[in-house]
Amino acid sequence: MPQYNVTFKPVDKVVSVDPDEFPYGSHGQPGSLLDIALANDIPIECACGGVGVCGTCHVIVEEGMDNLSATEDDEFDTVDQVPGNALNSRLACLAVVGGDVTVSIPGWNRNVVSEHE
Ligand code: FES
Repeated sequence: MPQYNVTFKPVDKVVSVDPDEFPYGSHGQPGSLLDIALANDIPIECACGGVGVCGTCHVIVEEGMDNLSATEDDEFDTVDQVPGNALNSRLACLAVVGGDVTVSIPGWNRNVVSEHE
């Protein structure tokens, strides 16, 4: 069985995932970065519940872009509206993991603070 390592920064948490176990939860596409993050107590906002319209789950892919599902036009449209977007931006709720990936969560500090308010 393939196992992939998904690294989330800046928390530097490495999660080992098995695609046969997807989905882990009910937010985002099965096996998406959001699905994996929330199942491992890594806070990523998901205001729209993981359907690709709010942009709050924005992440920057540092390594392994080719190991994620292809970006569809609707995702490009949402990412375009996200402040601070970059060429390697993805929506965690739509990007499904198919290999080792390292992503950075731009709003991580904000997410942690809001979780404790
Ligand atoms: S959770 Fe809303 S776009 Fe990903």
